[in-house]
Amino acid sequence: MLAAGRRVAHAGDFSNFSKVRLTDAQGAPLKASALTSEEAYVFHFPFRSIPCFLINLGKRASGPQAMTSEGGDFTWPGGVGKDGNIVSYMAVCSHQLSFPGKEGSVIRYASKGSEIAGKNGMIVCCAHASVFDPAIGAKRVHGEATDPLVTVRLEYDAKDDGLYATGLSGLHLVERFFNVHKRSLIAEYGPGVYRESVGESSPAVPLSKYAASVSNC
Ligand code: FES
Repeated sequence: MLAAGRRVAHAGDFSNFSKVRLTDAQGAPLKASALTSEEAYVFHFPFRSIPCFLINLGKRASGPQAMTSEGGDFTWPGGVGKDGNIVSYMAVCSHQLSFPGKEGSVIRYASKGSEIAGKNGMIVCCAHASVFDPAIGAKRVHGEATDPLVTVRLEYDAKDDGLYATGLSGLHLVERFFNVHKRSLIAEYGPGVYRESVGESSPAVPLSKYAASVSNC
């Protein structure tokens, strides 16, 4: 069972959590306009061991989309920020749960294209060559995966250009992630700690700084 933590309620299509401010590595509030579009940032939400991608698409995301996933149908809300170009997803592959770790990552946002994506701006998982489009709800484009990535709902504060994570489009993948990776999560975070909520803020760092190596497929 998931740690209830600071989960508030399931409202509409999303599971809501107390909002978490995204910060830089030093804990200063992140500015949406300062995000590079070259690569994804990694932060954790809503639990300490759940990695998520924060992506500046460098262009406006598509409008709201009806999405179908194992966890239930939902409406992807589109991008946030003054240009609607900021999106976020759980950085856990919907196929066999590959995710970015400190030692390395087989999943990344390929802003300048990749061999398996064949075009710019896709999320690619090199484990079994799955490709997801972050500008359209991270829907699966091709590969072994069938489901989209789980959406992290963002809130944008125009007053200070700040970003907050507030919910997930489904908890089915979180539960599977905890079950499949339990042993390594306990080793890294400690028993039970991996299920704790992140608190009121969560640092977001570029994937190239978060993981010692990033696969280039
Ligand atoms: S785990 Fe990502 S494609 Fe298989």
